[in-house]
Amino acid sequence: MVSRVLIIGACGQIGSELTNTLRIQLGVDNVIASDIRESNEALVASGPFEIIDAKDFEDIKKNVLKYNVDTIYLMAAMLSATGEKYPEKAWDLNMSSLFNVLNLAKENTVKKVFWPSSIAVFGPSTPKINTPQQTVMEPTTVYGITKQVGERWCEYYFNNYGVDVRSIRYPGIISWKTLPGGGTTDYAIDIFHKAISDGHYDCFLTKSTALPMMFMEDAVKATLDIMKANTNDVKIRSSYNLSAISFTPQELADEIAKQIPEFTISYTPDFRQKIADSWPNSIDDSSARQDWNWNHSYDLEAITNEMLLQLKEKAIS
Ligand code: SER
Repeated sequence: MVSRVLIIGACGQIGSELTNTLRIQLGVDNVIASDIRESNEALVASGPFEIIDAKDFEDIKKNVLKYNVDTIYLMAAMLSATGEKYPEKAWDLNMSSLFNVLNLAKENTVKKVFWPSSIAVFGPSTPKINTPQQTVMEPTTVYGITKQVGERWCEYYFNNYGVDVRSIRYPGIISWKTLPGGGTTDYAIDIFHKAISDGHYDCFLTKSTALPMMFMEDAVKATLDIMKANTNDVKIRSSYNLSAISFTPQELADEIAKQIPEFTISYTPDFRQKIADSWPNSIDDSSARQDWNWNHSYDLEAITNEMLLQLKEKAIS
C-alpha cells in the first residue's frame, strides 16, 4: 500500500521542497500539504492543501482521519533568531506541535513521524570541531532548548510507547526556491540574492564564523532516506548528526567572487553572532553514514554554481 503523508509547515523552506519531492515519489493525492496560512501560492496550487494549526491536536487529527494519513512530517517551527525575540512563543509552538504529533502516533492514529532537530542542540561547551553524535549539549537559544528537549521526548516515546519517530539534526540549509525565515544560517542564502541584485552583501556574521551547511537536495534526500530505512537500522531515536560541508562567510564570498568578480562583502555582526558562536564549526555524522548509508553530494563549489544559476534564471523570468 502506498503511504499517505501529511506535511505540517509545508509552505516553509524545507517543507515546500519535501512536499514537491514526495508528490513526485508517492503521487500528488498521497501528499497532503498544510500550513498555518497559504503563504506559498505555487505549493498550495500543486495538490491537496489544508490550513492546519500545528498547536491544535484536534485540527491535526481531523485531517489525518479525513485523508487516511499514516505518516507525518512536522516541519513547522520557530527558528533560532526569531525564537530569541519571542522565547515563549517559540517554546509553545515547537513543543506543543511535537507533542501533538507524538501523541497521534502513540494512540496509533499515525504509524510514523519525522521531526527535524538541528545543530542548535549544541552549545558553547560542546566540542566545536567534528562534534560527536553523543557529547556535551548545553544549548543557549530557546530554539536549541526546544530541539534538545524534543530529542529527549522522541527517544522517550520510542522507548516507552514504540512510536516510530525519526529525526536528523539539520545544519544550515541552502536553497533557492523558498526563502528561510528567522534562522542564523540564513546569511548563506541572502548572500546569493544580494550578490546578484546589488553586487554587495553586508553580512551579519564575522568573516571567520564557520558553520555546518548543506544544499537542499541533500537535506531532502537525507530526510527521505531515514524515513525509508528499515526500522532496525534507525538505531538512534533522539536525532542523528548530519553533515555535508562547513565554510565561513569569507570562504563563501570568495567562491561567489569566482563567478561574479566585482562582488564585495562587508561584515556587521549583530545578535546572531552570539548564536552562531555557540554552535559547532563541523559535525561528525558517521552514525548516519553507517546506519542508513547517508552520503552528501554537493560541495561548496557545486552549491555556489547551482545557486547562482537558478537565482539568475529566476531574476530574468
Ligand atoms: N538553520 C537553523 C537556524 O539558523 C538552524 O537549525 O536557526
